[in-house]
Amino acid sequence: MSPINIGVLLSGGGTNLQSVIDAVNADKINGEVKVVVSNRENAYGLERARKHNIAAFYVDKKKHESNIEFNREIMKIFEDQEVDLIILAGYLQILSKELVNKYKNKIINIHPSLIPSFCGKGFYGLRVHQAVLDYGAKVTGATVQFIDEGTDTGPIIIQKPIEVDEYDTAETLQKKVLKIEHEILVKAISLYSYGMVEVRGRKVYIK
Ligand code: GRF
Repeated sequence: MSPINIGVLLSGGGTNLQSVIDAVNADKINGEVKVVVSNRENAYGLERARKHNIAAFYVDKKKHESNIEFNREIMKIFEDQEVDLIILAGYLQILSKELVNKYKNKIINIHPSLIPSFCGKGFYGLRVHQAVLDYGAKVTGATVQFIDEGTDTGPIIIQKPIEVDEYDTAETLQKKVLKIEHEILVKAISLYSYGMVEVRGRKVYIK
């Protein structure tokens, strides 16, 4: 299999991006991170990309009349960089249908809960972990999935659970889950890069 070109979309610090870059450098992924795009000019994730000589772009949503146009600017960047796989690594914007359809089963998202629990609109950042605690759930975890037209509804590639400790706070849970996110995101990208991920309907088979 030829190596894949990875494009990353993010809005924040980019520790997930860092774990992907590290995995590429450790030859765990058959490909490279070609470009990182953010809707936030000061996202530290852009800085991380630049430190590794990866192309990094800020795309200003306010400059566009619609979400469709905003997403077209992003698509243009991915086309120019010949991106095969898009990773949403803490990206807090809704993708346009056009982008989702163009990259069907080629967009991977990481979410800090066991989907279909604690996901969907409004579930991001510490809110996810606070909701887990408020509910009294005994386990939580992380999910890597493909993106479809819904919010957190696409085919699931990998999930990993952890136990919720009675002394956990939203902050301690976030820290524990983030570790798992890094692990399963890298694993999913690695499997994909070696052609081992097959999607049939809403089910994902690891070959
Ligand atoms: C992660 O919890 C991810 O699951 C969520 O946003 C956070 C991003 O963290 N979607 P980082 O920017 O990769 O450190």
